[in-house]
Amino acid sequence: MAAECEIFHRPLTYSEAVRLHAELKTTPNILGYTVRELTRLSDVYVAEFGGEFAGACFCVDLIQDWTEIAALCVLADFRGAGLGRKLFWAAWERTQERRRHVYVLSRNAQVIKWMQELGMTVDDKLWRAPWAVHCYMPRYMASRYRFTESVRKRKEIGQCPPLMQGIMKYAGDCKKFPAS
Ligand SMILES: CC(C)(COP(=O)(O)OP(=O)(O)OC[C@H]1O[C@@H](n2cnc3c(N)ncnc32)[C@H](O)[C@@H]1OP(=O)(O)O)[C@@H](O)C(=O)NCCC(=O)NCCS
Repeated sequence: MAAECEIFHRPLTYSEAVRLHAELKTTPNILGYTVRELTRLSDVYVAEFGGEFAGACFCVDLIQDWTEIAALCVLADFRGAGLGRKLFWAAWERTQERRRHVYVLSRNAQVIKWMQELGMTVDDKLWRAPWAVHCYMPRYMASRYRFTESVRKRKEIGQCPPLMQGIMKYAGDCKKFPAS
């Protein structure tokens, strides 16, 4: 199955953004993004399976050379086939090529495992996040859509494990994603 999967670095089409927007509504792990926000992203990694849209993640550049890898999501029908790892790997590799410090925020056990495998500093002490993240978060949360979603998803979020952050400062050596 994984042989037919391809990862592209390109913006989402409108129909892909609509599909991703709908999928993000189903997970407590990501508050969500409007279709308009999704179509405007430029640093996006798109997974196609057999030519069909199967998932995406994207990177957001923050100040002070930090980049957040965000909204990693594989459509439910395509999970467990290695697409999530490939998307995360693609985003990770490019941050390393660009010599960026990397920040990831997740409550998904699989993503947390990948962060640990990459040697990121992983903890739940979010107040220790880089200054660049503290500066960005109010902007991210200042969204009526995300506020509404946080209210709608609050019960489900309350039953999830806590958010964990992964921090990796670029230290001159390109950290390779471990083989699966
Ligand atoms: C997290 C997510 C992106 C993973 O995508 P995915 O395509 O299913 O992930 P992969 O198939 O690449 O990897 C799944 C891992 O689980 C393992 N796995 C796959 N199927 C499995 C199964 N049935 N039972 C146990 N483990 C399984 C794989 O071996 C792989 O582990 P590895 O990387 O150590 O080899 C996907 O579950 C998702 O979109 N979840 C909802 C949104 C979310 O939580 N996003 C994270 C926010 S940061």
